[in-house]
Amino acid sequence: MPGLLQNKVAIVTGGGSGIGRATCHRFLQEGARVVVADRNPAGAEETRELMEGNDDNSAVSVVDVSRSNQVQQMVNDTVSRFGRLDILVNGAAILIRTPPLAEVEDVDWDLTMDTNLKGLFYCCKYAIPAMLANGSGSIVNIASMSGVRGVAYGVPYAVSKAGVIHLSKVASAQYASQGIRVNCIAPGGVDTPQMRGSTASAGTFEERNLEHPMGRVGQPEEIANLITWLSSDQASYVSGSTYVIDGGAWAIAT
Ligand SMILES: NC(=O)c1ccc[n+]([C@@H]2O[C@H](COP(=O)([O-])OP(=O)(O)OC[C@H]3O[C@@H](n4cnc5c(N)ncnc54)[C@H](O)[C@@H]3O)[C@@H](O)[C@H]2O)c1
Repeated sequence: MPGLLQNKVAIVTGGGSGIGRATCHRFLQEGARVVVADRNPAGAEETRELMEGNDDNSAVSVVDVSRSNQVQQMVNDTVSRFGRLDILVNGAAILIRTPPLAEVEDVDWDLTMDTNLKGLFYCCKYAIPAMLANGSGSIVNIASMSGVRGVAYGVPYAVSKAGVIHLSKVASAQYASQGIRVNCIAPGGVDTPQMRGSTASAGTFEERNLEHPMGRVGQPEEIANLITWLSSDQASYVSGSTYVIDGGAWAIAT
């Protein structure tokens, strides 16, 4: 039986780890050809090596998404290699835990915005013309619950993710009529290197589990399920939306 993404060509940024890695795996299983895009060459290569049947259907792109010329090259290389671009998943991001607003260093603000927001903007900017050439495309941007509600641990990260949510709506307004759907997901805690790094200790990680009504944070594969559906033609009437995926945590908070 054909997969949900049969013959589609996808770029997944942040594909070298966590949610991006799980998404690359799932996409390949669903019949897509996948470009694992990450600034970390070892992580990206490891993702590709872990994928079964990767030989002709996947490639690695070493890219820093905050660099316009590198992002343009990534898109050009993808189209040269696989002939088209159907799906872009923007997962590359950094989380710098910062002190309260008045003490935030310029460098942490700039680094976060350059990666999480400007980098995502560049990826959309160069992917959209390639999608317009096919007359269709799907973009899934990974924001965060911190872009939906207030959080104590970092103004730059939370504001960058709120920007991702709004960019997704505006891009949808501009391109849905031309066949490009743009959606956004806002995960709660997910067990990835980013989250374990930001929570600093196993004890704190356990506390994060207990903050969630299911008694656990999400697994990357559970987030990849939603990304896969939004990327597929099954979501043909879905655009401009933001999907909270947090095991019911937000429902309790409100
Ligand atoms: N893990 C969570 O709890 C959680 C919750 C909400 C949202 N998110 C979001 O999900 C996405 C994936 O996060 P994750 O937890 O899998 O993180 P992760 O740290 O495991 O993976 C992020 C990947 O992005 C790459 N990356 C970082 N900066 C880059 C750059 N400038 N150019 C290219 N690649 C770059 C890293 O090398 C890494 O491989 C991120 O957007 C993150 O903000 C994660």
